[in-house]
Amino acid sequence: MAEKILIVDDDVDSLKLIGMMLNRQGYEIAVANNGQQALAKAHTDDPDLIILDIMMPDMDGYEVCRQLRGDPSTQAIPIIMFTAKIMVDDKVAGFEAGADDYLTKPTHPAELASRVKAVLTRSAAQQSPQNDQAVTLGFIGAKGGIGTTTLSINVAAALAQQDTSTCLADFRLGQGTLGLSLGFGRSTGMANLLSRSTSDITVQAVEQELMTHSSGLRLLLSSARPKETLLNVSPDSAAMLVRHLRALSHNVLLDLGPGLNRLSVRLLQDMDQLTLTVEPDRLALSLARDILREIEQIGMPGSRINIVLVNRTQSSMQIPWQEAEQILNHEMTAIISPAPELAFQAADARFPIVLFQPSSVVANQFTKLAEEMMARMRSLAGNSTGS
Ligand SMILES: Nc1ncnc2c1ncn2[C@@H]1O[C@H](COP(=O)(O)OP(=O)(O)OP(=O)(O)O)[C@@H](O)[C@H]1O
Ligand SMILES: [Mg+2]
Repeated sequence: MAEKILIVDDDVDSLKLIGMMLNRQGYEIAVANNGQQALAKAHTDDPDLIILDIMMPDMDGYEVCRQLRGDPSTQAIPIIMFTAKIMVDDKVAGFEAGADDYLTKPTHPAELASRVKAVLTRSAAQQSPQNDQAVTLGFIGAKGGIGTTTLSINVAAALAQQDTSTCLADFRLGQGTLGLSLGFGRSTGMANLLSRSTSDITVQAVEQELMTHSSGLRLLLSSARPKETLLNVSPDSAAMLVRHLRALSHNVLLDLGPGLNRLSVRLLQDMDQLTLTVEPDRLALSLARDILREIEQIGMPGSRINIVLVNRTQSSMQIPWQEAEQILNHEMTAIISPAPELAFQAADARFPIVLFQPSSVVANQFTKLAEEMMARMRSLAGNSTGS
């Protein structure tokens, strides 16, 4: 099927000329002669590429570009800015607004054709699953305080030992214990980003807010400031942020806290795997069962869900894992043994357990779980390319 190109220009002659040139190359053409129409057609016509004039009345090309980049459904469409402006500053502004390439008028048809082809090839390569190596792993708890953050930190640290391009993001605004336990108590990077409008959450802005732990693990953190709890975060902004994290890191882990909420439900859509932590008691298991049901209804298949039973205390009153599996009607992916002292000491040293005491039983459990998650990614990728 021919690739579709949306050409945006307020000058009708320009539209015709470029349209004809590209049509001859075999592309399907759609046109818009102002910014609003361009935004509308970017949605309805689903183009593979947009060629965008800068100087237009009402809404200029920079603004159109920013809005396209700020909308998750048009964010990935490649854009070539096409304009009579020839100043270097204009070019910089174009790239800053999110353009993929820049052409100045008048241009030779062969030049136009080769730029279009190059941008389309690059974009196809970025979108094909084999080249999108990024993996998003979400963590939620059946309830609060049962070890979800500890689990996400240690899986992230285990992955970071294999691949330093690993980051962990704390979505518990106003209750961020993740930073505290790794020695970054007052980092407000997550809130700084999520208080911006979706279009202002750029990949550069996200990169600037990342902190690096001495282990190499990169972190996007929430603090304990109550102000953060009051932020009215748009789920689309959170989704945009995760997309940028995927562009910046191979492994993206999200600590989403207990239960489901607007953000975690939205983020589920772009997640490769979700890990649900449970405790071996009836209350937590019953909550977990309800959460699982919801998750599966939202459309995440059971094969992408991990259940991890965290035993924080040694007790004979606990429900054995076989019974827990029956209650949940789902296999347990891993069990984490009680390690209260080690958990305390590692947090005191601001280090993940897997690095603080790598030979401990729990460190091995975390590492093995991380390996299993990666193995599952490979098998899911194998299935999707085979089908
Ligand atoms: N395997 C374990 N054995 C003993 N204690 C543990 C274990 N894992 C975590 N803990 C401890 O349990 C407490 C809660 O852990 P954590 O903060 O990870 O839970 P959470 O579910 O993320 O909590 P919140 O709901 O506040 O986000 C911490 O003090 C942590 O050190
Ligand atoms: Mg937590």
